[in-house]
Amino acid sequence: MTRQDHEAFGPQDGVDVAIPATLPRLPGLDHTLTMLRQGYDFIGSHCDRLGVDGFRIRLLGQDAVCLRGPEAAQLLYGTEGLTRKGAMPATVLRLLQDKGSVQQLEGEEHRRRKGLFIRMLMDKDRLDRLVHGFEAAWRAQLRPDMDITVMDLANTALARAACHWVGLSPNKRRMARLTRILFAMSDRAGHFGPATLATLWQRRGVERWIASEIRAGRMPEGSPMAILSQDMPPKVAAVEVLNLLRPIVAVGRYIAFAAKALHEHPIWCGLFNSGNADYIPDFCEEVRRTSPFFPFTAAMTERDVIWQGATIPAGTRVIFDIHGTHHDSRFFPQPDRFRPERMLDWTLDDPAFAPQGTGDLATTHRCPGEAATLALMSSAVRMLCCEMRYEVPDQDLSVRMNRIPAQPASGVRIRVQAID
Ligand code: HEM
Repeated sequence: MTRQDHEAFGPQDGVDVAIPATLPRLPGLDHTLTMLRQGYDFIGSHCDRLGVDGFRIRLLGQDAVCLRGPEAAQLLYGTEGLTRKGAMPATVLRLLQDKGSVQQLEGEEHRRRKGLFIRMLMDKDRLDRLVHGFEAAWRAQLRPDMDITVMDLANTALARAACHWVGLSPNKRRMARLTRILFAMSDRAGHFGPATLATLWQRRGVERWIASEIRAGRMPEGSPMAILSQDMPPKVAAVEVLNLLRPIVAVGRYIAFAAKALHEHPIWCGLFNSGNADYIPDFCEEVRRTSPFFPFTAAMTERDVIWQGATIPAGTRVIFDIHGTHHDSRFFPQPDRFRPERMLDWTLDDPAFAPQGTGDLATTHRCPGEAATLALMSSAVRMLCCEMRYEVPDQDLSVRMNRIPAQPASGVRIRVQAID
């Protein structure tokens, strides 16, 4: 049974939306602070109120258009005339992808660089090595009777596995520091202030260290670091190495959301534990749909672009609402219900499901790390359900929807009882 068959059973309680020839404008001089205050719900709630799928705002003193739904996803992941250059605030860009990275390239240059990422991240043997490294580092931390948060357990294991996988060999002290910085790079991306500046500063230090390792040729042959450094100067290769390390560690946030879902829907752990591990990817996909992670992605129009009959002028920032699209009942009936039976699957062409972008991997800015994300999440869920017994003490598992990126407040604290 496909996702569409499943969804047909759900009530279609969606909002009817009109398609205006010009997009309505939110009243007010600038909406940056409102957007930060309302966080993940900003675009969806205004779309619902106005009965539209798109509206205009002023963001950081410039015109911007906010859109939701599969057609909006297709606009950002498949339409000519858009660029990622200038689309994100400077601090967000510098903490996440950074200047000179694949995400800032377009056309032939982008295709060529993206080809390297696809080669590194879609190869089964390479992915298996990453997952095995992650599992070994996860198991090495566990002791019976210990208290630990799933977020810390996952972050530490992911950072260790990612560093070795790319070809770095940091000593113990540097590894602990790297783990903190790699986590902070995505954790601070939605914030502005002294801690964000400190993380930017620390990121520069890590970049310099990686570039010096590359210049000294300290990396195994055939490793991602070696592949990247054959194709670009050490400084750019260091940025792209961080574009592998940082998001691999960020998968820990999804793993924490998965642990929260396992706790809240214990039937699934029982199922996985009794020989039905094949359903783990469906579970993880539903975690990716329901968890607030990337709220939006953004692009700039380089020329006038038509969307649902409305003209979006050249030089406009276009923001696609990932979270709102995933919680829109027209595309996901009863969107607030956690239902792995939806059988979501990133390999199917479904533009409504775009946690890491959508569209053609080679030619759009869709994330090349989806196979890795799914493999790492699935491995963590399997280890939580099938390799250990633990209890979840009383704690605050709530998720603040105006904290970007969001997380379960406690990080999901567990008390390990036994390791099988
Ligand atoms: C933690 C889970 C992840 C999330 C939520 C995520 C999210 C995203 C999103 C939304 C984009 C599209 C950005 C845009 O449209 O401008 C993207 C692009 C990208 N992601 Fe991920 N990602 C994740 C994991 C990974 C992993 C594991 C890797 C690599 C190891 C990775 C590497 C990249 C790269 C290199 C791009 C830029 C692609 C391009 O511009 O063509 N991501 N990611």
